Amino acid sequence: RGKKAFIAGVADDQGFGWAIAKALAEAGAEISLGVWVPALNIFKTSFEKGKFDESRKLSDGSLMTFSHIYPMDAVFDTMADVPEEVAANKRYAGNKKWTVAEVAECVAQDSGSIDILIHSLANGPEVVKPLLETSRKGYLAALSASSYSLISMVQRFGPIMNEGGAVVSLTYNASNRIIPGYGGGMSTAKAALESDTRVLAYEAGRKYKVRVNTISAGPLGSRAARAIGFIDDMIRYSYENSPIQKELAAIEVGNVAAFLVSPLSSAVTGHVMFVDNGLNVMGIAT
Ligand code: NAI
Repeated sequence: RGKKAFIAGVADDQGFGWAIAKALAEAGAEISLGVWVPALNIFKTSFEKGKFDESRKLSDGSLMTFSHIYPMDAVFDTMADVPEEVAANKRYAGNKKWTVAEVAECVAQDSGSIDILIHSLANGPEVVKPLLETSRKGYLAALSASSYSLISMVQRFGPIMNEGGAVVSLTYNASNRIIPGYGGGMSTAKAALESDTRVLAYEAGRKYKVRVNTISAGPLGSRAARAIGFIDDMIRYSYENSPIQKELAAIEVGNVAAFLVSPLSSAVTGHVMFVDNGLNVMGIAT
């Protein structure tokens, strides 16, 4: 039986979520996506127009397909949490069942159970502001979208995960080291995500017999990273200073995610795995 995967946080073919989908598709998994509600229309239109066809190509020549594409907003757990102005927003009102609980219900209905849960999303409205200038609202919004969203997903999807299943999220070393420019509480959000990965590994491990790990990725010029503004500098810095001097390809993260959800890593849980050409082990810039 092919494994079933649900990946939250794909809205184009440039980010880590897409690359993880590809690595899992190469390994024979059946993939469904959760796409951020405001990005869903353009994603679907681009997909149908064939804009992603080149990057959908698998090694056997076939095109990667998705069994279901769900609208999703990971900052809301149930409809009761949705403020009126969001509910009334045209892009949201035109879609249904996009809170985390509702998406999990839809996935249960359509697929029964899943084996693989991927969290590849983050959002920090004040990411360009230093922590010293970050508002309480911006800070809490970063934590809500980027950290609590993982807890919410494990809460709601845990019950429909098969034993032996695995959860993987994406983090960044700004959790441990000072990365000037990664602001708005996003550094905090990643620290929380890594800590929660350990506690969830224990709790969901005992309750559902699933593993929970996170990948600490090197810099990639995704849409989210471009919004932060200094990604090209980060890529250059990483190239110049890493033990392995090459640019990180998204598929390298995809392949490690595939390992972390496969039986090859059946004793690995609660782990922060660096996929960054080794930059994190350097002590000084070269
Ligand atoms: P991306 O732009 O491809 O992915 C982020 C996704 O999150 C987008 O598809 C966006 O629509 C979605 N999203 C934002 N808010 C959402 C919400 N409330 N509900 C549902 N979806 C929402 O960018 P990327 O870089 O691939 O990001 C994926 C993960 O990788 C994030 O956790 C990011 O922090 C992490 N990461 C990225 C690095 C980079 O240099 N690009 C480095 C290390 C970690």
